[in-house]
Amino acid sequence: MTTSGGDIKDSNLSKAGVDRINWAAKEMPVLEQIRQRFKKERPLDGLRISACLHVTSETANLAITLMDGGALVNLCASNPLSTQDEVAAALDNEYQIPTFAIKGEDDETYYTHIRSVLNHRPQITMDDGADLVAMVHQERRELINGIIGGTEETTTGVIRLRAMSEAGKLEYPIVAVNEADTKHLFDNRYGTGQSTLDGITRATNLLWAGRKVVVMGYGWCGRGVASRARGMGANVIVTEIDPTKALEAIMDGFTVLHSDDAARVGEVFITVTGGLKTISKRTIELMQNGAIMANSGHFNVEIDIPALQEMANSVREVRPMVKEYSISHGKSVYLLGDGRLINLSAAEGHPSSVMDMSFANQALSVEYLLKESANLTPKVYSVPDEMDREVGRLKLLAMGVKIDTLSDEQVKYINSWEEGT
Ligand code: ADE
Repeated sequence: MTTSGGDIKDSNLSKAGVDRINWAAKEMPVLEQIRQRFKKERPLDGLRISACLHVTSETANLAITLMDGGALVNLCASNPLSTQDEVAAALDNEYQIPTFAIKGEDDETYYTHIRSVLNHRPQITMDDGADLVAMVHQERRELINGIIGGTEETTTGVIRLRAMSEAGKLEYPIVAVNEADTKHLFDNRYGTGQSTLDGITRATNLLWAGRKVVVMGYGWCGRGVASRARGMGANVIVTEIDPTKALEAIMDGFTVLHSDDAARVGEVFITVTGGLKTISKRTIELMQNGAIMANSGHFNVEIDIPALQEMANSVREVRPMVKEYSISHGKSVYLLGDGRLINLSAAEGHPSSVMDMSFANQALSVEYLLKESANLTPKVYSVPDEMDREVGRLKLLAMGVKIDTLSDEQVKYINSWEEGT
């Protein structure tokens, strides 16, 4: 327990955490503009927010923005391996935002921390993966009446929440931040693309040039990972289940293979499907000696780790974040970051500049939930288009980029149907 009531690794890390938070802030001008407005207008005055997000320097800037808007924020980690301990310490000690997050926490502590932020009796929940919403609905139902709404950051969380909504189980409105164009087109593609390669590089120090890299899944994250791996000179193979996405990968210039065939030739395998057992026991059986596996999807279920454990004669940590599984005489395969999000477990997550737009959408979505609460029902909402475009406008402004506007004549043309050839 700390002065603000959180649970962090070490208070002595706070000063280093403040430096890290300030460094990230320099790359987050859109969020900064919102923060300055929030400071003046205090639109979230007294609002209790419980957030379950990756505890990084970017998330810290979001939490501080919400606090400056008047909110009372409690924060826990949305993954046991993604916490930056200095940042957690700084938030808890220097900013008095109770933070419950320790990098490497076991599953029990992870859930204890989620329970702790729910003791804050949130009026707004903020999720990255929907663990908070799930726990509210399963264990803390007495809180539901007091909850105005929630936000969800990631693809996997939105899929989970839509399933809840379709089953008639979702009991308060959620804004799917992931669905904003200014979120997924940048964060999922360029953020995941760069930070996934960063995580694998930090964990292994491998050379990408000439490497046979199998990217499993060609959604926005897969597109980003494949394109960045190609940029580093890798020989990229894509696997997909969706015909349209597979075609897109082919026309983007990648080789598309069935995962059995990819398994035989690949050297590095990266899962980004959001699904279960994308790398199955069979895939592992077909892999060559020395194959490296990493996951950049939200949960650690994309690689069948229980099967891997069963298949292994011995398991050994050969470098931090790298486990060697000796499967049979002469064949070992390597699992990075215990199959958890490699970009956050072995690196620092997405760069601040893309998180700027994601978290601007988050901050504005909280304000939107509060303003519109009377008109919202328990379902999953998209970020309003105007808000999404405003985030884009502010980002361009911060970059000093001017774009064109339509003349009246052009507006008239584009809105009419009469004029043809
Ligand atoms: N998700 C991916 N990268 C992140 C980051 N840097 N901060 C918070 N959440 C993230």
